[in-house]
This record gives sequence, C-alpha cells and structure tokens, in this order.
Amino acid sequence: MDSLSSSSLSPYYHLFFTAFAFIISGLIFAFSRKSGSKKLNLPPGPPGYPVVGNLFQVARSGKPFFQYVRELIPKYGPIVTLKMGTRTMIIISDADLVYEALNTKGQIFASRPRENPTRTIFSCDKFTVNAALYGAVWRSLRRNMVQNMLSATRLKEFKSARDLAMDKLVDRLKAEAAANGGVVSVLKNARFAVFCILLSMCFGVEMDEKMIEKVDEMMKTVLIVLDPRLDDYLPILSPFFSKQRKRVWEVRNQQIQTLVPLIEKRRRAIENPGSDKTAASFSYLDTLFDVKVEGRKSSPTNAEIVTLCSEFLNGGTDTTATAIEWAVGRMIENPTIQTRLYDEIRETVGDRKVDEKDVEKMPYLNAVVKELLRKHPPTYFSLTHAVTEPAKLAGYDIPTDANVEIFLPGISDDPKLWSNPEKFDPDRFFLGREDADITGVKGAKMIPFGMGRRICPGLNMATVHVHLMLARMVQEFGWSGYPEEGKVDFSEKLEFTVVMKNSLRAKITPRA
Ligand code: HEM
Repeated sequence: MDSLSSSSLSPYYHLFFTAFAFIISGLIFAFSRKSGSKKLNLPPGPPGYPVVGNLFQVARSGKPFFQYVRELIPKYGPIVTLKMGTRTMIIISDADLVYEALNTKGQIFASRPRENPTRTIFSCDKFTVNAALYGAVWRSLRRNMVQNMLSATRLKEFKSARDLAMDKLVDRLKAEAAANGGVVSVLKNARFAVFCILLSMCFGVEMDEKMIEKVDEMMKTVLIVLDPRLDDYLPILSPFFSKQRKRVWEVRNQQIQTLVPLIEKRRRAIENPGSDKTAASFSYLDTLFDVKVEGRKSSPTNAEIVTLCSEFLNGGTDTTATAIEWAVGRMIENPTIQTRLYDEIRETVGDRKVDEKDVEKMPYLNAVVKELLRKHPPTYFSLTHAVTEPAKLAGYDIPTDANVEIFLPGISDDPKLWSNPEKFDPDRFFLGREDADITGVKGAKMIPFGMGRRICPGLNMATVHVHLMLARMVQEFGWSGYPEEGKVDFSEKLEFTVVMKNSLRAKITPRA
C-alpha cells in the first residue's frame, strides 16, 4: 500500500529529472559496479535506465500507480518487476501465485521490507503490527491487538460505541441535508462515523466533536507526509529534501502533542478508578500500557503508544469509509439493489432500528457487501510483503530486499475465476452462482483483507462496521444521485485507499 503514486512525485519530477537523473545515474552506477552484485533471475518487467530504473517512467506516465500496474500485466504476465531507484518491486497479480506465496510459502513471505526514513519515524522503528518484521515483536503486538481488542467477545463489548456512532451519523446526515437542499457528502460522513467508533475503542475517554475533528485532521496530515518521496527511492537525493524532512518531524511532534494528553488522561482514570465518570470500562490503551513484548523488558514509551494507537485508527478508518462510498455509488447506479436492501431490512426488523445482530439474518445485505469487497477492494495493493530468506516464485528469484506487492484486483477481476467480473452483481453470491472464501484459506479468489499470517486482524470488526453502517443508512434514507440527471462516475483515484475520483455527493430523503 505504500506504493508510489505518480501524483506524489510529479512536483519533484520536473524539477529533478532532466538536471540530475543521468549525472547521478552515472555516479551510482559506477559505485554499484564496484561492489558487484550477483545476477538474479528476477521476474520480467519494463526495461529501465541504470540506477533510476523505472522510477521516472512510472512518474511520467501521469497515471495512478495501480493503473500503471494494470497495464503492465497483459504485457509482462502475472509476476512483474519494477526497479524503483534502489528498490526492487515485485508485483504479483495471479491467484495461484499469491496463494503459493502467502499460504504454501506463507512463513517465508510474511515479513515487511525495510522502511523509508519517514516511516521509520512514524512507526517508531517498526514497532507496529503492520510494519514489524516477521518475528517476536510482531507476534507480541499482533496477539495483543487480536486477543484483547478484536476477538468476538471484545467486539461485543463495544456495541454501544457503534450504536452511538450510528445515531451520530444519522444526525449529521440529517443536518447536512437540511443545510444543503438534501445533498450530503458520503465519504466524509462515513469516515467520521467509523473514526468515532475507533477513537472510543482506542482511548476510552469521552471526546467532543471539536476534539474528534482535531485528531482526525492530525491523522490526515500524517498520511500526507507519509506519501513516498523521490529520495525514498534515490537516497542520494536526500540533501535536496531537508525542508520535507523538517516537516516530517514537525508533524510527528504535532501527533505526539495531540495524542499524549489523551493517553495521560486515560492513565489517570485507570490509576484512580471512579475519578473520571466518562471513562469507558476498557480501551486499547489499557492493553498497551503494560503489553509484554518478547525480547523487551520495558513497557512501551508514550511515543510508541502514540504510534500503536495511530495504527489502530488509521487501519480501520479510510478502508471502511471507502467501502461505504462505493456501496452508495452502486445503489444509486442500480436502484433495484437499494429497494431489495430496504425490503430485506423491513422484513427482518420491522419498524425498529436495525442492529448488528440482525445482519446475519440478511442474506441480500451480505451478498451486497461481499460483491462490494470483490469489485472495490478498498486498497488495491495489500501492505508490502518481504521474504525472510531468498525465495523462488514461478521459477524467479525473490531477494530479501525486494518489496513484494500483491495486486488485489488482478485476482478479484480475473475472468478465469469470475463470470462477468466487470459487472457489479450481488446476485452472483445471493443466488449462489459463485462464492469465495474472503480469508483465502481455501484459495485466493478475492482477498480484500490479504491472506495468510499477515491477514488483516480487523477483518471481523470491519465487516461488522460496513454491514451495520450500510443497513442503517438505507433504513433511514432513500439515496439518489446528485446532480440528478448525471450518471455516477465510477472513476477511481488513489488516496491511501482507492476512492471515487469525484467524491460522491448524494441526495437523501428520510424514509416515511
Ligand atoms: C474494510 C476495512 C479494511 C480493509 C479492506 C483492510 C485491508 C487490509 C489489508 C489488505 C491488509 C494487508 C494484509 C497483508 O499484509 O497481506 C491489512 C492489514 C492490517 N489491517 Fe486492515 N483492513 C481493514 C480494516 C482494518 C481495521 C478495522 C483494523 C483495526 C482497527 C485494521 C488493522 C490492520 C492491521 C494492524 C494490519 C497489519 C497486519 C499485519 O501486518 O500483521 N484493518 N488490512
């Protein structure tokens, strides 16, 4: 997911390409020849320049990175190499190869690559579930997150946080519609609702809307500075990026200053039970204060706790909200889907508020959400993998310093695996014509949460959030297009997740 987006490079590209690329290429080429490298049999890929490799071809294409990759597949096959400066990127887009890597050879492909300097700062040198190398730190942090926060029992305990967030969402939509002639932004509101749930699970302290918005703004700023830069791929250029490096530290300090007071507030509430009447009975923070990490004697520092909390908030916010945006787009495009959803909700719950417990009794809703995650996986690349030792895949070498990327739509849009994959058709699941195991245990047909050892630990919680939010939004409002005469534009853009290029606005009508 930390793949390069051409937009993040374009401001630098014009500045640097002509002036520096070839001079620097020559210099580093001379250096690298001295050190001598073993000839590897890497997967095929477009020819590139010495040292810079394909970096500038990607940037100059003007296409989002996922689009660039999509166009490479028919030319070079299901496993492709891109040389991105000093990084070798190997992209896998075929179900069998992905299954072989993440299941059959799962242990070998379960690590993460080295970080760029910005990510090293924000991950506290890989002290997070998602960035940790495959090993003791990862095991400890992941076990803590899964067992103490994301197990089925724990999830149930946070039901009231979800109910509250859903009520807030409905109120916000009503208020926005009232102020804008019935028109609302979909992504922004969905994002806010899911962020409220995660915030309350994470910090266990009450926050007013102003504080929620402050934390949200700060998280967005972090995501912006985490966008890859040219010097991440060509470290020799780093002297030209001192301003950006300074900015990274500013944002990191701002992140710490925003979140540490919340951490301290919770610490005080735990140390003095009963002192804070608004404190929740349990939160992710509580598990972090004294988490035991194999190979470490001390508890995490405040800076490390900031990092771990941010991971929890970031992992589940944009991903879930993105799914909702595409869902509403599809319902507007095909009003029959919306009618069938609404009829199912009414048949199942009558006049009362739809609840997460009702979801399992709604096969059509389940089919819509599954088709949504097939056709619009919120991230097109799983998080970057790396091998723990030199490996082979499809007869090619996979070196330990390569970034291994899994291109998810390559699988879920594959006409060899799906009939009519281009069509958004919940009936493929509802009528049982097709099926897939989204955990990838039985095969990789659609794996929006990845698969294998690094599969998203938030899978269960995320699917509860998507089902519940969609059901509630359809129960409360009728959704139609805005502007009314226009067709929904399903173009995509990369913004951490793959969102609608023109952020979806919809007209809502409260149900009678
Ligand atoms: C619709 C919502 C979500 C989607 C589509 C999604 C997708 C993914 C994907 C594709 C990966 C990478 C798997 C791999 O490396 O092969 C991942 C990892 C991860 N996700 Fe999610 N995710 C979602 C929600 C969440 C939520 C709600 C949380 C927790 C609050 C979360 C936390 C994480 C973490 C910590 C990892 C790293 C796991 C590891 O490296 O061991 N995600 N997710």
